[in-house]
Amino acid sequence: MNHIVSIINQKGGVGKTTSTINLGCAFANLGQKILIIDLDPQGNASTGVGIENNDRDNSIYKLLNERNNLQHYVKTTKIENLDIICANVELSGFETEVAEVKNRAFILKEILGDLKEKNQYNQILIDCPPSLSLLTVMALVASNSVIVPLQAEFFALEGLTQLLKTINRIKSSLNKRLEVEGIVLTMFDKRNKLCSQVEDEARKFFGEQVYQTMIPRNIRISEAPSHGLPALVYDKYCAGSIAYEKLALEIIDKQKKFNFAA
Ligand SMILES: Nc1ncnc2c1ncn2[C@@H]1O[C@H](COP(=O)(O)OP(=O)(O)OP(=O)(O)O)[C@@H](O)[C@H]1O
Ligand SMILES: [Mg+2]
Repeated sequence: MNHIVSIINQKGGVGKTTSTINLGCAFANLGQKILIIDLDPQGNASTGVGIENNDRDNSIYKLLNERNNLQHYVKTTKIENLDIICANVELSGFETEVAEVKNRAFILKEILGDLKEKNQYNQILIDCPPSLSLLTVMALVASNSVIVPLQAEFFALEGLTQLLKTINRIKSSLNKRLEVEGIVLTMFDKRNKLCSQVEDEARKFFGEQVYQTMIPRNIRISEAPSHGLPALVYDKYCAGSIAYEKLALEIIDKQKKFNFAA
């Protein structure tokens, strides 16, 4: 199985990259072979697993241009079973450069098709940028499903409706198999009434799509990237790491039940 999941929300700073890195690490610790694709010109996922900027020559930008030879762009990380294709700021020019290219929304899907035949990874996690631009559309076209991190704050649900509309549009036009695998509440603070209100609303509107596991606001999670490590490695026993491990198990259970990769 080569299950391709986009971690997506057009809202900035909601925990996409943190979730990508830590879920990737949690799956890898469970013995799955994982590839993270950093599809954000900010390159935060690359930094977060310890790949320095000056070590990102073979980046996703170059792969999207070459459209071949994927293996050449895969980097191993310090974490066993966890590989990454990095991003750097070059990627920000990609959209305008391919503006005239026919079928540009399918570029990433074609590239990953090669990998699919080899069946080398259990899951491929795509860390999306905070926009609904071509990069995000390419990710949605290439994926079986999406996981949406939702920050427990006031405007969170408003953006979510817009996002789900976009996902449905892609599903009805460019990628019929696309499913919303789940929504995860992030940076949750149980002492904050507003967080509980957002949780109640999200569960009311989106029911089973919202994972039971929520990611608490946790200082160790925010410290980890500056050490080039997932929180799960930086402090395995902090509340945030424990939550991501629990979420990974919940996700795997749900994936088996609904067979999202089919
Ligand atoms: N559970 C958490 N507790 C505390 N801090 C967190 C938590 N999750 C994420 N953060 C911090 O919040 C900030 C935003 O998180 P992150 O980079 O994962 O969001 P993002 O959605 O990927 O952002 P962008 O839209 O810019 O790509 C980061 O500084 C991160 O370290
Ligand atoms: Mg990010």
